[in-house]
Amino acid sequence: MKLFSPITINGMTLKNRIVMSPMCMYSCADQSGKVQDWHKVHYPARAVGQVGLIIVEASAVTEQGRISPQDLGIWSDEHVAGLKELVGLVQGQGSKIAIQLAHAGRKAVLDSPIIAPSAIPFNDSSKTPEAMSLEQVKATQQSFIQAARRAQEAGFDAMELHGAHGYLINEFLSPLANHRTDIYGGDRDNRYRFLGEIIDGIRAFWKGPLFVRISANEYHPEGNQIDDFIYFAEQMKAQGIDLIDCSSGSVVPTRIDAYPGYQVPLAHAIKTSTGIATGAVGLITAPEQAEEIISNGRADLILLGRELLRDPYWPRTAAKQLGAELAAPKQYQRGW
Ligand code: FNR
Repeated sequence: MKLFSPITINGMTLKNRIVMSPMCMYSCADQSGKVQDWHKVHYPARAVGQVGLIIVEASAVTEQGRISPQDLGIWSDEHVAGLKELVGLVQGQGSKIAIQLAHAGRKAVLDSPIIAPSAIPFNDSSKTPEAMSLEQVKATQQSFIQAARRAQEAGFDAMELHGAHGYLINEFLSPLANHRTDIYGGDRDNRYRFLGEIIDGIRAFWKGPLFVRISANEYHPEGNQIDDFIYFAEQMKAQGIDLIDCSSGSVVPTRIDAYPGYQVPLAHAIKTSTGIATGAVGLITAPEQAEEIISNGRADLILLGRELLRDPYWPRTAAKQLGAELAAPKQYQRGW
């Protein structure tokens, strides 16, 4: 079974292709952004469930870049100790662990002013962001780079930049949200520059696995199209990105016709057009469906979101259904 075959990505070997998709837990009630007991129970439970790679939820690179005041954070050195503990707990149970580095841009729901490439609100009921000055652009890029440095210090096996779902990096990439007239707006190369410079800044010291999550369909005729994402993917590959995690939508309010595996063709197109490794995500719940995607070379990793909330032992469920071997944690061998 290909789903249960190991894969090595830039030196990181995963025991299977099953990945926990990043999911905000909105559990920092004290607004500190620090790891809470919840995180220390929630993530290691999936490691016990034999998930190959766990991607910790969107973690804010600045306070202003939080989606909500309850978000996990990585904007300060004070966050490192809690994250390090979480890393140890997950690695101690045999899984690899990554963190998603994020800035919410115009989608931040905070009392403070919010920032974006251009002063265009997400929708009629959301706050109008301030258009970022060049100084703010540079400072925010540095925040991503400093966050990556903290992630390295905490011992994460991999990192993912959140370039999807209409958050800040996505806002720069999309002509729907980016109306800038300086070098960070306009044509594709200019819209990519914000992300490209962050990648270069991180790659200067982080040689391990680096992923980018994108929204590879904006569901809008004037938005980026698949050819644009293939173009961006080629740039990312040239800059040493190891894998593109292919999600879609949420850049502007549009209706998405979601059905099982609806985003898989995006991962497939980017993989076959550029040769970069991809992750498939979105309404993948059935073991045979996951096996098909990997076996047919449509993606290299399967990311599960809500199904792993419902069943932390989904790898076991899938192995039983597919008739695959899956080692149990030694404590559970009598009852696995
Ligand atoms: C999400 N999703 C998400 N995506 C992301 O890139 N960063 C995040 O922090 C979050 N947060 C989040 C929270 C919750 C509660 C849900 C349900 C979803 C999206 C998620 O990673 C995934 O892409 C989608 O849920 C689609 O996959 P499933 O759930 O159909 O397997």
